[in-house]
Amino acid sequence: MTRTNITIRKDPKFMKFGFFDDAAKEYCITTPFTPLPWINYLGNDGFYGLISNTAGGYCFYRDAKLRRIARYRYNDVPGDIGGRLYYIKDQDTVWSPAYRPAETELDSYECRHGMGYTTFNSSKNDVNAKLTFFVPLGSACELHKLEIVNNSSSAKELTVFSGIEWCLWNAVDDSQNYQRNLSIGELEVVGSTIYHKTEYRERRNHYAFFTVNAEVDGFDTDRDVFLGARRSWNNPVSVENGKSGNTVASGWYPIASHSIKVKLAPGEKKTYVFQLGYIEVPREEKWESKGVINKKPAIELINKYNTTEACEAAFDELKKYWNELLSIYHVESKDDKVNRMVNIWHQYQVMVTFNMSRSASYWETGIGRGMGFRDSCQDLLGFMHLIPERARDRIIDIASIQFENGSTYHQYQPLTKRGNADIGGGFNDDPLWLVACTAAYIRETGDTTILDHPTPFNNVEGSEKPLMEHLRRSINFTINNKGPHGLPLIGRADWNDCLNLNCFSEEPGESFQTFGPSEGPVAESVFIAGMFVKYGKEYADICDYVGLADEAKTIRAEVDKVKAATEEFGWDGEWFLRAYDAYGNKVGSNECEEGKIFIEPQGFCTMAGIGQEKGYGAKALDSIYKHLMNDYGIEILAPCYTTYHVELGEISSYPPGYKENGAIFTHNNPWCSVAATVIGDAEKAFDIYKRSCPAFLEDVSEIHRTEPYVYSQMIAGRAAVHYGEAKNSFLTGTAAWVVVDITQAILGVQPTLKGLSIKPCVTKDFGSYKVTRKFRGATYNISVIQDGSGKGLVVDGNAVEGNLIPDTGKKEYSVEFYI
Ligand code: BGC
Ligand code: NOJ
Repeated sequence: MTRTNITIRKDPKFMKFGFFDDAAKEYCITTPFTPLPWINYLGNDGFYGLISNTAGGYCFYRDAKLRRIARYRYNDVPGDIGGRLYYIKDQDTVWSPAYRPAETELDSYECRHGMGYTTFNSSKNDVNAKLTFFVPLGSACELHKLEIVNNSSSAKELTVFSGIEWCLWNAVDDSQNYQRNLSIGELEVVGSTIYHKTEYRERRNHYAFFTVNAEVDGFDTDRDVFLGARRSWNNPVSVENGKSGNTVASGWYPIASHSIKVKLAPGEKKTYVFQLGYIEVPREEKWESKGVINKKPAIELINKYNTTEACEAAFDELKKYWNELLSIYHVESKDDKVNRMVNIWHQYQVMVTFNMSRSASYWETGIGRGMGFRDSCQDLLGFMHLIPERARDRIIDIASIQFENGSTYHQYQPLTKRGNADIGGGFNDDPLWLVACTAAYIRETGDTTILDHPTPFNNVEGSEKPLMEHLRRSINFTINNKGPHGLPLIGRADWNDCLNLNCFSEEPGESFQTFGPSEGPVAESVFIAGMFVKYGKEYADICDYVGLADEAKTIRAEVDKVKAATEEFGWDGEWFLRAYDAYGNKVGSNECEEGKIFIEPQGFCTMAGIGQEKGYGAKALDSIYKHLMNDYGIEILAPCYTTYHVELGEISSYPPGYKENGAIFTHNNPWCSVAATVIGDAEKAFDIYKRSCPAFLEDVSEIHRTEPYVYSQMIAGRAAVHYGEAKNSFLTGTAAWVVVDITQAILGVQPTLKGLSIKPCVTKDFGSYKVTRKFRGATYNISVIQDGSGKGLVVDGNAVEGNLIPDTGKKEYSVEFYI
């Protein structure tokens, strides 16, 4: 039995809850009763919103913990209430275009999640309402455009209510420090604009506002008055009565709500633009007069979008922006699902992960983690081609939290960009990811000046060294931290945060990631060995590229040492071992009772070419198919741990089949797909890609439950009670890796230091296809032609030896590759 929401129909033809509209670059959801809230992200740079298919969610400026604008309630029942609240009162009927908060049954409902925007289109009693939510480019605000049409044959007198519940900025304090919070809320109301200025009179120099481009008939800022005693968002007393309380709250629970009386003749349409904005004011200009905030910057922002035309122009600009971004890599193949995911959703998800890292989703609360070092480095791998300038800045931000010895903080807060001391460092894979993303940046752009950029250690002024020195220290960190088998020491954990081999935690509540010593002299990671071999080579290639031939040679010798050690001590006969624990015992070996085989080293060591001459890669991938493959992808390990192993840590704390203990952790599936291309196995590469790809799982949405347009971090494995059910949608490194996998490894359009290279690894069935790729200022129109001729590369009509397209300084290249 699948676990379903009671409203879900059981007929298999209703396994879907919407459909892809590829021409519009949207997913259209046709019911508010998706198995879980299906969400989207608004905003590109600074102001961000999360929005569900019932307009739930919240928004923040830069940092979901420190600058939360609208409140979100954790562990609420039912979930996902609150958010952007719109009510239409039509005589005795109150309804919401997004279904919630009113929860009145609608005559029609549609929600479309698009590139940085979400729209609703719903009707009730011959009134149609369209709501469009987006963050205009370059502005710190959300626009909510409401269009209402009277489709009946008589005049309608409606009242529209809006609503937002303010968060008192620091989302952690907001959810727990009531003894203070309930006395500090402050607001100002001027005309149609409600200003939220809690804590502005003391240390904050920012406020928020909620406004509408029309005269209002009333407003509320006191939640208790708006809702009435013991009522919730679904039936506020003021909405029921059709009348706002015109309250200015002091303390308690500040909100912002407008009411507008709308008269509509038959067929008439009216449009309103609501704006939810965030303002920072220079400290010396905070006040207009004593106690009255300086509203000048707010008024400027309000005026920018206070007409329907301005709002629509900003919306068009956003669409154009995305069309341009998505024109950088575009494929046309006969497989619609591949086209759809590559051309739209993979790249969209990678932008979201670039912006959010793992901080704010419906699964990541925004109050826990900030930006992850390894996470953000990996996100860049798939983001690089979209906006290389932002990638460059991010690399410098990340490198700036590295310590002098090459190790690094594991996370940083996006607002302060300072390393997060609560979690500290000691995750020994981290430094190598910096090499990975910098190498990818240079391959994309050819810009080696980034290596000279003065970059501090631990953000200490005066400690700046060229970025190249940071990479060098990353590489040397692995070289200098090896264990008894000559393999890299694991530290607190490697990519698998739950393989805590030095932790030995016995008490509930201790964090597996920070408890115990961060280092142990024995526990080693075969996964980091794979990383070192792969990224050590990439580092050496950079050295050669910038004329450091001696260093390149030295590093290649180090790479060979780790490669040899891995072949000798990291191979288990049929697959790569995972690790050696703190006692020197094997982890991920056929000799183990549980956890005999892990996915990570199979993917990474094969990608790195370890044991290639001995056929290790092919064997490792066969073993994956034999032991880890299920309907929806490759499980992370097998057999799952059924008891807690103190010497292994969090991995054995999860019930079998979940998360790191035997789910499909989708993140490392593309590693295996790329690995398959490294050994030339196109069938496996594409099969692995397809199995966990969201568009290919749309038909089983009722089982999968999460959004069919983006990856979820995990899909429960066969050992789980709810096999096939996904969790943690949106924020996963899968997004970036899958871009690398399908666009570079499979379709074969590969940025290299010397230029663009064409090296497809596709099945016969996949057929011929075309890719348009913008790269280093030129456009490449590429046709991969499967005619069996094996002629290889032809550029502008001339046959070319090898795979590299020679850069002849042209703006446009016509490229064919014959297989
Ligand atoms: C999760 C991991 C995550 C870690 C981060 C663990 O509980 O299972 O996926 O990386 O927390 O702190
Ligand atoms: C999620 C974390 O964000 C990521 O850093 C980690 O590699 C995976 N979980 C696996 O544990």
